[in-house]
Amino acid sequence: MEKVQTACRSVTEEKDAIDTLRRIIVSYEKKESNLIQILHMAQALFGYLPDSVLRVIGEEMNLPMPVIHSVVSFYSYFSTQPKGRHTIQVCLGTACYVRGGTRVLDALKNSLQIDVAQTTSDGRFSLEVKRCIGSCGLAPAIRIDQTVHKRVNPTRIDEILDLYR
Ligand code: FES
Repeated sequence: MEKVQTACRSVTEEKDAIDTLRRIIVSYEKKESNLIQILHMAQALFGYLPDSVLRVIGEEMNLPMPVIHSVVSFYSYFSTQPKGRHTIQVCLGTACYVRGGTRVLDALKNSLQIDVAQTTSDGRFSLEVKRCIGSCGLAPAIRIDQTVHKRVNPTRIDEILDLYR
């Protein structure tokens, strides 16, 4: 099995996490109807869902990989990429969209050199899109970790990012 890039700090811890995942799958009776719950638990355990983890799930549940991949890709909550230390959520809900949310998103993609659902190579930032983060009156808005940045000016996106660098 390929090495899983997770929060696990040693091979032993990594093996323990895989063993825990196998026990979780058994506790859910290996039923396909429990696949989403199992994926949630696996993501909580590993931080994300690398292929090596999905293969363990497929083997244990006797499910073909395309079935598992289709579920993982359907739900935006699941990530097959390791998350960065800071998660940036760009709001593209109606208010933010009409007030330039896509320009904010483009500025972030440009500055970070990543696309949506990716993480920067230094592991610092992950980029996501949301439909509303509850600050419509001060659109366009983005959330970085727990902090909402309002009336974001795309030409000054690096000033915001510098707060987290
Ligand atoms: S639409 Fe962006 S905060 Fe509501």
